[in-house]
Amino acid sequence: MCGIVGYTGPRQALPLLLGGLERLEYRGYDSAGVAVVDDRSELHTARKAGQLRNLVAEVDAGLVPLDGHTGMGHTRWATHGGPTDRNAHPHTDTAGRAAVIHNGIIENFAPLRAELERDGVELSSDTDTEVVAHLLGATFATGPTAGDLPASLAAVCRRLEGTFTLVAVHADAPGVLVAARRNSPLVVGVGNGEMFVASDVAAFIAHTRDAVELGQDQLVTLTAEGYRVESFSGGEPDYRAFTVDWDLAAAEKGGYPTFMDKEIAEQPAAVRQTLQGHFDGLRIVLDEQRLGEDELRTVDKVFVVACGSAFHSGLVAKYAIEHWTRLPVEVELASEFRYRDPVLDRDTLVVAVSQSGETADTLEAVRHARRQRARVLAVCNTNGSQIPRESDGVLYTHAGPEVGVASTKAFLAQVTANYLVGLALAQARGTKYPDEVAREFATLQEMPAAVEQTLELMDPVRELGREIGGSRAVLFLGRHVGYPVALEGALKLKELAYMHAEGFAAGELKHGPIALIEEGLPVVVVTPSPKSMPLLHAKLLSNIREIQARGARTIVISEEGDDTVAPFADVLVSLPRVPSLLQPLVATVPLQVLAAEIARSRGYDIDKPRNLAKSVTVE
Ligand code: F6R
Repeated sequence: MCGIVGYTGPRQALPLLLGGLERLEYRGYDSAGVAVVDDRSELHTARKAGQLRNLVAEVDAGLVPLDGHTGMGHTRWATHGGPTDRNAHPHTDTAGRAAVIHNGIIENFAPLRAELERDGVELSSDTDTEVVAHLLGATFATGPTAGDLPASLAAVCRRLEGTFTLVAVHADAPGVLVAARRNSPLVVGVGNGEMFVASDVAAFIAHTRDAVELGQDQLVTLTAEGYRVESFSGGEPDYRAFTVDWDLAAAEKGGYPTFMDKEIAEQPAAVRQTLQGHFDGLRIVLDEQRLGEDELRTVDKVFVVACGSAFHSGLVAKYAIEHWTRLPVEVELASEFRYRDPVLDRDTLVVAVSQSGETADTLEAVRHARRQRARVLAVCNTNGSQIPRESDGVLYTHAGPEVGVASTKAFLAQVTANYLVGLALAQARGTKYPDEVAREFATLQEMPAAVEQTLELMDPVRELGREIGGSRAVLFLGRHVGYPVALEGALKLKELAYMHAEGFAAGELKHGPIALIEEGLPVVVVTPSPKSMPLLHAKLLSNIREIQARGARTIVISEEGDDTVAPFADVLVSLPRVPSLLQPLVATVPLQVLAAEIARSRGYDIDKPRNLAKSVTVE
């Protein structure tokens, strides 16, 4: 939520900032703004409500001089204050000398605002951020830290409660950029004689792959010559340098009309890369971590905690892990987990699944689990992010950067990684012989090809999407692992096409949801294999008949060669045959494509659905 980028060095800052913001826009697109300090020690800002292109038009109009070699940019997902020009970042102090940008929420902003107002400061926005700009301006102007920008920002940070990444510049500190973080992401990009700071490496990947991940309550001071990290609330700063393992091409559309189209197409690679290096010929090996086989052997209960699509990947994991390990698995919405007092102890493994590694709800669930002495394994797609930092172990998903706000390739990679967790547990606990584990892994390795084949079958699904784009609602049904797939299909449609969409376990239909069926309502049904799950398949056929009899338009996702479903399918989508537990890896794909196409037919931007941001760093 909210994207931040900063630059200091010999080049003009503005084009670098706008380029960085373009790559960060997935984090929020309610407004955008930049601040630049010029060589005459003047601060200039420009900010505009709406998508980045509005700011670019403003900048191109040349009304504000924005020359300078130090600056920062922001793209906003509104929390405090509506998405207007005056609430757009950067915010400045009254003198227009200090400027800040912010990602997160300052929880004690109300008393701070009251204090400023008592001192006669007139605030010009409804945001929590503006108070920081005024406090910084005042702290820099007088008192023990006067004239020292890092010390002034550190002093202000010590007064703040909540979550924040802040970046600040001051007209009287040319060439200096200071950034601080608590709970919100911040990475430094180390260039050759120039430095960057951003919420995500994507913002500077075009210029450097050398990055530094900052810890909690840390502050970094950047000048063209280098960086200095310190802690603003005491203690030794712990930061880690790393090299980003993907390049600029991965963060660009590469000829596809949208990032989402590209990311759907990249799914075979995402699954392949997630599996890579996790079988040494004899055993499953997870990433380097503090959770060895001895720790996994004593696990007697598993929780998967996650949000949204990642939560759905956890629901899939439940079927696989329970089947392979005989361990009970509970899947919890991270936002509910710690408020429910779950039963956790040393022998509980909590698997925290998060593409971004930043989701506040999941992070808090991780903290809660660790306080209760449970062991936490993060399944994450983002190197340098907070959830892996705070977990006992991490399994990276290697899907590459996901820019489209709706999760696609990251979801498939999460599902894949969760299977690896299941196999690692089965191996450690001895519920599967080594040759069985090897066989399961070999089957997983066939999945990228199956996903590839599935992608080749998507033209009729696109056509269907255009055809049903005018529908009022769509329902999704599934059983067994098809149930989480149905939930994921409904979520994709809701977020992309702003349509009423619901996923149900097909067996629940008669207990209420069947009342929703009306003439012509499209209902997507994810069918299990008739060969490996004959009983369930037969039950699902009855469910399809029931809804068809009530006028639904049935769109049936089935396995190739399943002739029994054809009479009950108004539209049949046949997919490659894969083992039942792995079906989500292929069955999710047509639902992603369908949602994208319906949204497109309704004229929506599928990369940036309204009201959403990719990283949800507030609870
Ligand atoms: C849906 C979607 C979200 C995320 C959720 C968790 O398409 O992208 O539901 O899955 O916000 O995000 P991460 O995985 O970053 O924790």
